Order: sequence, then structure tokens, then C-alpha cells
Amino acid sequence: MVTVRAPATSANLGSGFDVFGAALDRPADIVRVEKADRTTIDVTGYGAEFIPEDPDSNTVGAVAEALDAPAHIRIDKGIRPSSGLGSSGASAAAAALALNELYDRGLSRRELVPIAGKGEATVSGEVHLDNVAPALLGGFTVATGRDVTVVDADIPLVACLPEIAVSTRDARDVVPAGATMEQLIYTVGRAATLTTGMCRNDPRLVGKGMHDRLVTPARADLIAGYDQVREAALSAGATGVTVSGAGPGIIAACYPENRQEIASAMVEAFKDAGVDSRAYQTKIGRGATLY
Ligand code: HSE
Repeated sequence: MVTVRAPATSANLGSGFDVFGAALDRPADIVRVEKADRTTIDVTGYGAEFIPEDPDSNTVGAVAEALDAPAHIRIDKGIRPSSGLGSSGASAAAAALALNELYDRGLSRRELVPIAGKGEATVSGEVHLDNVAPALLGGFTVATGRDVTVVDADIPLVACLPEIAVSTRDARDVVPAGATMEQLIYTVGRAATLTTGMCRNDPRLVGKGMHDRLVTPARADLIAGYDQVREAALSAGATGVTVSGAGPGIIAACYPENRQEIASAMVEAFKDAGVDSRAYQTKIGRGATLY
């Protein structure tokens, strides 16, 4: 049997739609695999009741098929599905690493990224690597096509998850079809600022670079209480706040001394908007761990 822990991830980070991603120190999924004649899947944990166990509909089924590695796969969800915290990406990344080891396929983590991406496409409808790349490689990742750059950044974060679900497919439907030159210039400036901040471990630059006028405003409309939660986090010292992945999770960058206060302020603001939530005090972390 092979066991892998794969971390939650936050994709986009505001200005890097479908390109930026970050591995979070917590929460995480645990995946265990054993050789079998055909693939079967058991899912337990947070939100397990919403995840299909049929290999044709589950993210790890496509990974097992791509690696020609039939197995009994047990997924223990620590990351709620439809959270914006890379739930399906974490399971796909964990399965790819675990099955590669179980069947001795000899692929590198980088080679496993597109395979895990294929698995994730089963649920999101499109291949995008901004969750599976950080889940496998750790750190802050810039995924352009099949090319992935990794920065081992150390930035404190708060991820706040409201008890509402937003499907990635729905969140992709509201993405604007085009952009003006002014919006493009703004986005490039912010994305470059964020990347510089990651390279310098500077929470101020990372937070500033999270600000996005293109995709985030459309998606924020799908999250009850978004504006209040953002304001509350900024007032408590967050250096930047944006939608995590496709939402409804919200991610804030900060200095370590403000993290706890920001987490409480975000939960409180959601409560005022009539939404229960939980906040993870986390930071950019490592990629999947093989046990
Ligand atoms: N980049 C993808 C999106 C990530 O925002 O739709 C989904 O988790």
C-alpha cells in the first residue's frame, strides 16, 4: 500500500487567472492505494457525500487510467469539494504520485502534473494546471501551458471557507470573454508585483499583486458576503484579499502577527452576512508527501 498527503491549493491569486497557484500548508487530502484488477474508489471525510465513487466520474479514476494503474483507492477528504481550495486537484495529485510509486512508473513530479490535470478535468470540464502543479510541486507556481515555474515562497495566508458551494463550471461561466487594453495593463502590473513579492517573501507586494479588476469582480458576485469579508480582512491587517480559485473560499495574504486576527475577522464578517464559515490559518507550503 502507498499513502500520499496532498495539500489544498489556491489558484489564480487574483491577477494570475489559470496561471498562478500556491500550495497551502493545510488542509490536505490523504490518498491510499493498493494494487487491484480494476479500479474502485472509497471516499470518506469532509464533503465525501458529494463525491462520486464511480471511477468514470471521480478525478482519481482518470489518473489511474492514464497511468494504466488499476487500484483500490481510498480518499480521505480534508479539503471540502467545491471550496475553491483545490479539492479535486489535491486528490488527483495524490493519486498520481501514489500510483506512480505503487506501479513503479518512474515519472517525475513534473511529468505527473499533466496526468493529474487530466484527472481534474473530469470534474471541472477543462484542463488547468494551477491547482495540480502546486499540489505536486509545492510553493508558488506559474503554469503556462505545460511549463511550470516554482518559487519556494514563505508567505502567511488565511483561507476562509463559507458553508456555501460554488461549482468550478458555474464560476467559469461568469468569466468575461474579453478585456480592454487598460484592464490588461493593470493585470500584468499586478501579476508582476505578486511574482516579485513571492520571490522576495514580501507579503505587502504579494497582497498588492492579488488585486484584480477582470475576473474576480464577476466571481465575487457568486459569494454572499464577499465585500464585507474582504473589508474586514483588510481592516484586520491583510495585505491583499481575493477569491481563492473558483471560490467560494476567500484567500488573504498577511504578516504572521496579523494572521489570527484576520481569520477571526473573516469568520465574523461572514456570520454578519448570515453565512457560517471556517478559517484556516496557513501559509505557502510544500507539495504532496509520499509516506
Ligand atoms: N483557475 C481555475 C479557475 C481554478 O479559476 O477556474 C479552479 O480551481
